[in-house]
This record gives sequence, C-alpha cells and structure tokens, in this order.
Amino acid sequence: MASRIAVAAAFLALAVVPAALAQAPGPAATPSGPPNVTAILEKGGQYTTFIRLMKETQQDTQLNSQLNSSYASNGGGYTVFAPTDNAFNNLKPGTLNSLTQQQQVALVQGHVLPQFYSMDSFQTASNPVRTQASGRDGPYTLNITATTNNQLNVSTGVVEVTVNNALSAVKPLAVYSVDKVLLPFELFGAEAPAAAPTASEGKPKKGGSSDAASGPAGADDAAPTGAASARALGWSVAGLAAVLGYLL
Ligand SMILES: *[C@@H]1O[C@H](CO)[C@@H](O)[C@H](O)[C@H]1NC(C)=O
Ligand SMILES: *[C@@H]1O[C@H](CO)[C@@H](O)[C@H](O)[C@H]1NC(C)=O
Ligand SMILES: *[C@@H]1O[C@H](CO)[C@@H](O)[C@H](O)[C@H]1NC(C)=O
Ligand SMILES: *[C@@H]1O[C@H](CO)[C@@H](O)[C@H](O)[C@H]1NC(C)=O
Repeated sequence: MASRIAVAAAFLALAVVPAALAQAPGPAATPSGPPNVTAILEKGGQYTTFIRLMKETQQDTQLNSQLNSSYASNGGGYTVFAPTDNAFNNLKPGTLNSLTQQQQVALVQGHVLPQFYSMDSFQTASNPVRTQASGRDGPYTLNITATTNNQLNVSTGVVEVTVNNALSAVKPLAVYSVDKVLLPFELFGAEAPAAAPTASEGKPKKGGSSDAASGPAGADDAAPTGAASARALGWSVAGLAAVLGYLL
C-alpha cells in the first residue's frame, strides 16, 4: 500500500517536473548534459595554448570527468580562469619549458577552483581561495578582490589580473577569460619574474636541466613522452640519491 503511494507520488513528480521546466522561459539555456571545458575553450577561439597545456597534463580529461560527476550529483562545480593565447605569448620565453611535467600540472590546476563561482558569488569567497593544485606541495591559493570600478581582480601574489568575460556561467562550470597567466607563487615567487620582463633573460631557477626532459610544452604530441621522461628523470634522481646513500 505504502509502496503504491510512493510509486504514484513518483509518477506525479515526473509529470510535474517537465511542466515546471517548460514554463521556465529559457534564454539562459540549461545545458543538456555535463559541460565540456575543452569544447567551451575551443569555442572561445583564443585559448589554444591553454587547451594544449590541459591536454598535455591530462587536466582536460580529469576536469571533464569531475564536471561529469559534479553535474550528476549537483555538486559544488568548478571555476576556471582561462588565460588567452596572448597571455601565454607575453610570458618570458621558455617559461613553460622551464617547468617539469608535475609543475605544469600544478600550473594548470592553479587556474581551476573546485567550486562554481558566479561573478556575484566571488564577493562571498573568503581569501585565500583554494585551487585544484592546493595541498600536495604547497597552498597554491588565489586571492580574489573587488576593485573600485566594480570589477574583480585575481592574484597569485606574483601576478594580478582583472577577471574578464565569462565563457561559461552555468553551474557546474564557470570559465572566465584572463589576460595573464596566473603564475603560482610556489613556482615563481622566489624569482619575482613576470613583473619585469627586462633583459635579465636569466636561466629559470627550477629545472634548467629538465628543459629537455620535461618535454616541450610547445610540442603538440609530447604529452606521453614528456610524462615518461619526467618520470625517468625522477627515477634517475632517485637512483643517484640511492647510489650516493650507499657511498656515504
Ligand atoms: C569534449 O570536447 C572535445 C573538443 O570538442 C572533444 O574532443 C572531447 O571528446 C569532448 N569530451 C567529452 C567527454 O565529451
Ligand atoms: C558520466 O557520468 C555517468 C554517471 O553519472 C556515467 O554513466 C558516464 O559514463 C560518465 N561519462 C563520462 C564521459 O565520464
Ligand atoms: C591573500 O589574502 C590573505 C587573507 O586576506 C592575506 O593574508 C594574504 O596576504 C593575501 N595574499 C596575497 C598574495 O595577496
Ligand atoms: C587589478 O589588476 C590590474 C591588472 O593587474 C591592476 O592594474 C590594478 O591595479 C588592480 N586593481 C586593484 C584594486 O588591485
């Protein structure tokens, strides 16, 4: 008896929900499935470097799968700050290649917040805000602050940039365009770089020797080999340490 009532209630709910949806007038098109961050960035037209970096670090598939789960569970969603191609072009030459594969992962994850923020809800975010890179080997946080002319700035402590237009603003995914790469403090804080891209063309502090090993961020097809050789480098460092351990 009770179960028959439950079944009837379920049918009723099924009948009512579509009617309610149909009534909601929809220029704010509700997505028909989980969002695809790669497709959204491609549509934006000026994010090819960021897309390539996401692919090489497997963060495109990771984020898309997280978005799929978040969509299915109506979870907290995600926010991406997407640097334009221009932003990458303005980096000191060799900046990306100076990073190991793992650091490139952290760089990409440092642009992704594990929480959906509309422009308005940023106001309620409490600084520092965690990113997908937060935790493992550093805080990798961002500070988000309102500027006088009713805009938002996002800062890593090394780079500060104004948040531009949204490429996506439907939960579970917000994507905002930014004109600078959010260089994490943890990777670039020591060498105070991008602020003054002067003639000091210096050798990047981290990984001078890993330039070749980490795999060119610029190569379209380098992800697996890059990962492999980064791992190989890790192993050889570990091996060297072990040998030294024996000798000493
Ligand atoms: C997301 O979009 C990209 C580019 O359009 C496509 O290659 C990829 O297969 C899509 N991924 C999923 C999970 O639909
Ligand atoms: C998305 O999640 C559903 C379950 O909610 C699963 O059946 C499907 O395979 C997932 N798709 C992808 C591309 O991960
Ligand atoms: C970020 O905000 C926190 C809390 O307000 C503050 O302590 C910290 O100094 C800020 N960091 C940067 C880089 O602005
Ligand atoms: C916001 O960022 C822009 C770009 O870096 C900078 O010029 C401006 O001074 C910042 N505004 C505030 C209030 O920090």
